[in-house]
This record gives sequence, C-alpha cells and structure tokens, in this order.
Amino acid sequence: MNKQDLDTSQLGSIVIAIDGPAASGKTTTAKNLASALGLTYIDTGAMYRSVTLHALRRGIDVDDADAVADAARQIDIAFKNIGGENHTMLNGEDVSLDIRTPEVTRHVSKIAAYKDVRLAMVTHQIELGGRGGVVAEGRDTTTVVFPDADIKVFLTATVEERAKRRQMDMEALGIETSLQQQIEDINRRDSADSTREHSPLRKAHDAVEIDTTNLSIDEQIDRIVDLVRDKLSNQ
Ligand code: CDP
Repeated sequence: MNKQDLDTSQLGSIVIAIDGPAASGKTTTAKNLASALGLTYIDTGAMYRSVTLHALRRGIDVDDADAVADAARQIDIAFKNIGGENHTMLNGEDVSLDIRTPEVTRHVSKIAAYKDVRLAMVTHQIELGGRGGVVAEGRDTTTVVFPDADIKVFLTATVEERAKRRQMDMEALGIETSLQQQIEDINRRDSADSTREHSPLRKAHDAVEIDTTNLSIDEQIDRIVDLVRDKLSNQ
C-alpha cells in the first residue's frame, strides 16, 4: 500500500464511509484500510447479519417486523479485535463465521429493510463512529449514517466478478456453491437493497465511484489512500 508521506497522526477524527452492492469488496477494503491507517472498522452489514442470525436462532418470525425490531433493540452487538482480526460479537458470543452462512444471507435483506431495525442499528453505528477515526462500510453509510463523512466511496464491480469473489469466500468457509447460484443471490439482494423504502442503496452525489472489476485489493485500497491524502493536503 502506498501510504508513504501520509501523516497518520492527522487521521484522529476522520470518517471514511464506503458503500456498494453485494460482494463489491467493501469488507476486505474497509478492513485492510482501517488496519493500515490505525482506524476503527465498523462493518454495518455484520450488524444486520447478527440481527438476522439472532432471529433465526430464536425462532422469531422474520416476517414480523415488530418482533424482529424488538429483538434488534435488545441484543448487544460489538466488534472485538482478536489477534489483529475484527470479530463480530453477539451478546458476547463470537458469531463472525455464523453470520456468513447462506441461510443468514438469504434472509438478511428482508430484515435490513425494516425501518425500526434500521433505526436501532444506525443509532448504534453513530455511537460507535461518533468521535471519528473510523472506516464504516455498508449500504447507507455515505447517505444516512455518516452523511458528513470526510471521504465517501461507492465501490462497484460487474455481477459476474462479484459472484466469483463470493464463491471463493464460500469455498473458504467449506461451503460449495455454483457461480449461477451466487449470481442469482447477488441480483436478488441488490434489487431488494436498492428498491426498499427506507435507506435504499444508492450512490451519494458526492461519493467517488471506484469500479473494482479489474483492480486488486491493494490497488483499490491505494485509490482510497490517495483520496485521504488529497483531503489532508486540502485542509
Ligand atoms: O458483504 P455483503 O455484500 O454480502 O453484504 P453485507 O455488507 O454483509 O450486508 C448484508 C446485508 O445487510 C445487505 O445485503 C443489506 O441487505 C444489509 N445492509 C444494509 O441494509 N445496510 C447496511 N448499511 C449494511 C448492510
């Protein structure tokens, strides 16, 4: 990563927000960027996934918006750095792997569309990021959660490339899926996330769009580091 000549002591209160469609590389980019710049990483998708996991485990009817929102307000979701890795904690339990299963992925967009679930999560995200020094990623971090973020990025990639990446992620978890299955899953989720009434996925007017189809992780991180450098030099 080309972070030479970047004065990281100036980053104390910076807010970097990254949105984009499913499997566009937000998680890896945000995680690595936060670790390279010494910032706190907020994975907002992991929060909606945790609510979904909790509802499925407790047998809460996922079609009952009020019941799911009640649960969302009661659970404790936190992030913990374990051995340099960001882990998602649900009521004190490490659920980092459990929230990535196809079953959670299948239900998460429905649950994330509920207004009161969003209200509970966004309130928590603002608390986590309120003092700055954060990289947040998701669907509405540039538009709703941190509309005044210093750096706003919208990551995209073709659906085929995103499906290929997601298939590799699943393989690493020991879950076999077909490319076609991933394309369908991503299209369904993108459509649900972009057309919902509350906080739909959209590019903020002042976000910089980065198409990652032909970029490596390091290249896409470098693009964002360049934006940070520009921002600091214009202050
Ligand atoms: O990593 P991937 O693109 O699979 O998704 P994620 O970031 O883990 O988010 C999972 C789901 O949570 C998304 O498909 C959205 O339905 C929802 N989400 C949201 O509504 N708002 C956010 N800020 C983040 C995620």
